[in-house]
Amino acid sequence: MAIKTVGVIGCGLMGSGIVQVSAQAGSPTVVVEADQALLDKGLDGLRKTLDGLVARAKLEARERDAILGRITGSTRLEDLKVCDLVVEAITENQPLKNEAFAKLDQICPPHTVLASNTSSCNITAMAAATKRPTQVLGLHFFNPVPLMKLVEVVRTILTDEGSVKAAREWVQAIGKVPVDVKDSTGFIVNRLLVPYLLEAIRVYESGLASLEDIDQAMKLGCGYPMGPFTLLDLVGLDTTMYVAEVMFDEFREARYAPPPLLKRMVMAGHLGRKSGRGFYDYGKK
Ligand code: CAA
Ligand code: NAD
Repeated sequence: MAIKTVGVIGCGLMGSGIVQVSAQAGSPTVVVEADQALLDKGLDGLRKTLDGLVARAKLEARERDAILGRITGSTRLEDLKVCDLVVEAITENQPLKNEAFAKLDQICPPHTVLASNTSSCNITAMAAATKRPTQVLGLHFFNPVPLMKLVEVVRTILTDEGSVKAAREWVQAIGKVPVDVKDSTGFIVNRLLVPYLLEAIRVYESGLASLEDIDQAMKLGCGYPMGPFTLLDLVGLDTTMYVAEVMFDEFREARYAPPPLLKRMVMAGHLGRKSGRGFYDYGKK
């Protein structure tokens, strides 16, 4: 089955990026947000990104208009009934995702493949919320979506080969590189990355060094493109905390436990770039 029309639920940090790369690759793309204000915010951000590329002569104005012309925004899940593939990119929360999958299953035609961009939630549980568990899988993109080449293609013990093949082919068609992984909390990247990010917070909490020096050390000492605090602010501290909680719950190992400072920053509304302040203040930076 070839994937032509793509749906995305959630037009936040990740959803808007997935919409961009899908429409940029030529697919008619329908994106559904929880309400009109959030939809407008997500699509405005996407438009600004494309305008920025035009201004820097990375994209022709004609091409920007064609990309935008392929995108349909909506607040009604029913509008996803035309899609061959739907990628869920809503808030990292298992019950919310299970509910979304149950609704999608009712709305979408029998051939539609349903995918989740979750960082840590259980894809088998999402599959079990539908009557098409063989057509449910993970497509885990990386932030920022337009720049990061990897997509983890996650199969549960129920996913069929046809769905994996169709999803892999679409991933390649949008210019990304798929890797295969089984449904296990954190998949490959977060299994390795999250303990590192959490350890950076513990090192900072211990007073060993400043945020800036820890970031500089990992950039210049290890060749990482960003230090851990710049990356935490990019990913979002709320998402990181939820991911850490899920991983701790699954593996019961101290290295996955969210450090006290992370919890308090989330309680304080310091969520990273998306809220204007995280470990760094984006009003100042
Ligand atoms: N669409 C298309 N092109 C874009 C773009 C967009 N939205 N935004 C920027 N570009 C283009 C720029 O125009 C630029 O083009 P040129 O090189 O031709 O000038 C190019 O992309 C690079 O842009 P930048 O200069 O902004 O990028 P950079 O070199 O500073 O690198 C980065 C930015 C790729 C984000 C790099 O810092 C990096 O790799 N950081 C680490 C990110 C990371 O680790 N992400 C994973 C997070 S974990 C995760 O996502 C999983 C999870 O579940 C939490
Ligand atoms: P975000 O908070 O920026 O965006 C989530 C969006 O989903 C919000 O705009 C919200 O209004 C919308 N939403 C929530 N419930 C909805 C519903 N029922 N219907 C339609 N829209 C709904 O979060 P994000 O960072 O984009 O993360 C989205 C997903 O991607 C999460 O599962 C997260 O774990 C995963 N992810 C995040 C990153 C990252 O670096 N932030 C990387 C890879 C994967």
